[in-house]
Amino acid sequence: MEFPFDINQLFSERVTILDHTLVAGRKSAGRPDLQALITTVIDEIGRASAKAQQLTAPITSASKLQSQRHQVYLLKDGERNGGHGVVVGFLKVGCKKLFLLDRQGVHIEAEPLCVLDFYIAENVQRHGYGLELFDFMLQHKNLEPVLMAYDRPSIKFLSFLAKHYCLTQSVPQVNNFVVFEGFFPNRTAAQLRKVPLKKQDGEIKPYSLMEREVIRQEQRALPWPFAPPHTPQRSVSSQCSHSLSVGSSPSGAPLRALRDNRDKSPQSTLAERCRARRTSSLNRAQQGFP
Ligand code: ACO
Repeated sequence: MEFPFDINQLFSERVTILDHTLVAGRKSAGRPDLQALITTVIDEIGRASAKAQQLTAPITSASKLQSQRHQVYLLKDGERNGGHGVVVGFLKVGCKKLFLLDRQGVHIEAEPLCVLDFYIAENVQRHGYGLELFDFMLQHKNLEPVLMAYDRPSIKFLSFLAKHYCLTQSVPQVNNFVVFEGFFPNRTAAQLRKVPLKKQDGEIKPYSLMEREVIRQEQRALPWPFAPPHTPQRSVSSQCSHSLSVGSSPSGAPLRALRDNRDKSPQSTLAERCRARRTSSLNRAQQGFP
C-alpha cells in the first residue's frame, strides 16, 4: 500500500511494533506531525483489512489502538515506491479473557494472546509476507501458535495456519474464537482456571465480548464467510485439504508434496511437511532472513 509520504521516514525498521502510544521508534515520539501520519496509515490498513474480510467496519483503527492494550506489527517493504517504501500488511494481537471449552467440554477461563486482525495487501498475498510477519510476532512474544486463540479466522487465515503451523484440529467452542488441539495440554494450571458452572451473579457467559462480535451483529443476515456462525467450532481439516487440493500456490508445493509422498498417509505427509516448514521458517527468522 502506497502513501503520499515517505514510509521509510516514518518506520525505520522492516517490522514496526505499534501500541496505544502510536509511537514508531524514537523518531515519532513528541512529533504530532509524524503521529498524524501514523494515524493515517493505521486507519488506511484497518479499512483495507475490513474490506478484504467483507466487514462493515474496521476492527483496527488508530483510535481503537489508542484505547486498547493491543499491539500492531506493521510490515513495510522499504525498496518499493521509488524508495519511499510501501506498507505490506499488519498483524494485530492482544490478550483477551476467554471462557473456553476443553476437549471434555469443561469451561476453562484463560487469557491467551489472540490474533485479532491480520492483513497482507492483495497484490502481494501468497508471497510469504504473512508468514514473515507472523513468525516475527511469535519470536517477539516467544510463543508457539498453538497457545494462541484466533478471533473468527477467515478461510484464508485457517488455510495459512494449517499450512505453516500444522494447526488443523480445532477444539469446538461456543464463541467465535478458535483454539487448536494442544492449546489446553500445553498450558500450566496457573494459566488455566476451571470455571464453576454457576457464578453468584448468574450464568456464566462462555464467550468474550469482541470487536468482531459488534460488527457481526450488524451482519447477522450475512453468513460468516460462506458458512453459519458456528463454523469456527468445526475441525478445519476440510479447509486444509481444500487448500492442498486446489494447488493454487505459485510454487505448487503442496501438490508436489502430496504427489511425492503417495505411499504415506495424508496425515503423516501433512505433519512432516508442516514440521519441515516450521523448522525452516524459524531458522530463517533466527538468521534474520525475511
Ligand atoms: N486462499 C486460500 N488460502 C490462502 C489465500 C487465498 N486466497 N491467501 C493465502 N492463503 C494461505 C494459504 O495457505 C497459502 O498457501 P498456498 O498459497 O500454498 O495455498 C498461505 O496462506 C500463504 O502464506 P503467506 O504467503 O505467508 O500468506 P499471506 O502473505 O497471503 O498472508 C493472510 C495470509 C494474512 C491471511 C492474507 O491472505 C490476507 O490478508 N487475507 C485477507 C484478509 C484475511 O482474511 N485476514 C485474516 C482475518 S481473520 C483474523 O485476523 C483473526
